[in-house]
Amino acid sequence: MEIKLKACKKYSICSCGLSLTLPYCDNTHREFNTINNTNYKSIKITPDKDVIIEVSSSNWNSIKENK
Ligand code: FES
Repeated sequence: MEIKLKACKKYSICSCGLSLTLPYCDNTHREFNTINNTNYKSIKITPDKDVIIEVSSSNWNSIKENK
């Protein structure tokens, strides 16, 4: 998935796959971590210039399928 990021803006990318706003983190990982004793965290990005990046995670489909 390609996303456009603006310079000097902080982004949180979901690593757990549970966010309703993928690829961005919506903090759903916090409840999942508490219930499942896991330690998912978002990946923070603050680019110094406008960029387009490609993001992906093997968890974006696997956790929802196993839930
Ligand atoms: S909701 Fe997935 S890392 Fe925050």
